[in-house]
Amino acid sequence: MEVWQLTSGFALDKLELGERPDAEPGPGEVLLEMRAASLNYRDLLTVRGGYGPRNTLPLIPLSDGVGEVVATGAGVERVAVGDRVAPTFFPEWIGGDPTQAKFRTTLGGPLDGVLRRRMCIAADAVVRVPEHLSDAEAACLPCAGLTAWSAIATLGRVGPGDVVLVQGTGGVALFALQFAKIAGASVILTSSRDDKLARGRQLGADAVINYRTTPEWDKAVKALTGGAGCDHVVELGGAESLARSVRAVRIGGVISLIGVLSGADATFALPLVVMRNLRLQGVTVGSRDGFEAMCRAIATHRLHPVVDRVFRFKDAPKAFAAFAEGRHFGKICIGY
Ligand SMILES: NC(=O)c1ccc[n+]([C@@H]2O[C@H](COP(=O)([O-])OP(=O)(O)OC[C@H]3O[C@@H](n4cnc5c(N)ncnc54)[C@H](OP(=O)(O)O)[C@@H]3O)[C@@H](O)[C@H]2O)c1
Repeated sequence: MEVWQLTSGFALDKLELGERPDAEPGPGEVLLEMRAASLNYRDLLTVRGGYGPRNTLPLIPLSDGVGEVVATGAGVERVAVGDRVAPTFFPEWIGGDPTQAKFRTTLGGPLDGVLRRRMCIAADAVVRVPEHLSDAEAACLPCAGLTAWSAIATLGRVGPGDVVLVQGTGGVALFALQFAKIAGASVILTSSRDDKLARGRQLGADAVINYRTTPEWDKAVKALTGGAGCDHVVELGGAESLARSVRAVRIGGVISLIGVLSGADATFALPLVVMRNLRLQGVTVGSRDGFEAMCRAIATHRLHPVVDRVFRFKDAPKAFAAFAEGRHFGKICIGY
């Protein structure tokens, strides 16, 4: 079976096409013939060796993919041969609040990921994906989609009339925009590029701000909300943006802390959080139950994840190179 893997070190140019023995599903497992995968920022860090010491070699990258069940092991009842399913990011987080045990391991590092033709996985760690989605679209759901869903729906409880600020036009951001819209909220979208903001408007953004040409974008958010601030921030920028997010959100509002695109250490005045009753909510992907709830919402609203480009399996390194350039709008995918 063909796999893309890192064997001799962590770097984009160390990704190599190799062979691993075909596996048979054991009791409780399913064998998937993979059809598509998608890239997340984390995958880029992982391949470059910047995602912590738990990742060891050899490693098959990528957490997000979709495949068809082609065989089932003894005792499998959740899914059947022919079902199209996506593996979950946290194979052991089925539902409820997260615990150390549920966070124990993740796909695409330290566990081998989905950038391979076939994979065996516990039947408990897969979810049927909505039928109206293409394979590439469905491959965007496990990490990017579910993280945005957890922020907006599960933890954020965004509702009709809320104003949500979404940062950037990457994978998580555009899912957050779409989920906020189906929840009945208004969305303020930020981007470093006006052409991406124009596309964001077509996707439903109600107002847009270029965070490069308007560096004091927190003031622009205040102006757009009658001076009060927005109800919810989907915080992806990290170091560069958190201090402004704290000023952009209303008293009693929520900041979903998801990304650290501009760095992991932020400095801001703590009284702005304390004295304004803000909730800083860390978000780490989500559970299988959350994934299934998200799929129901996506099917009901006939949502389509935003796919920027689909590379072929044999061109996986080109997909990583394109992702690293950062020009994408939505998701970069790989079709097998
Ligand atoms: N906590 C979790 O569970 C979780 C899950 C998934 C992702 N994440 C994190 O979320 C972040 C986004 O991941 P992703 O996969 O969606 O990445 P992505 O698709 O590569 O998105 C990157 C986009 O974010 C925008 N951006 C870059 N720097 C920014 C900044 N300083 N301020 C505001 N926006 C900025 C840019 O949009 P424009 O080009 O429009 O400016 C860029 O294109 C990463 O830090 C990732 O590690 C966390």
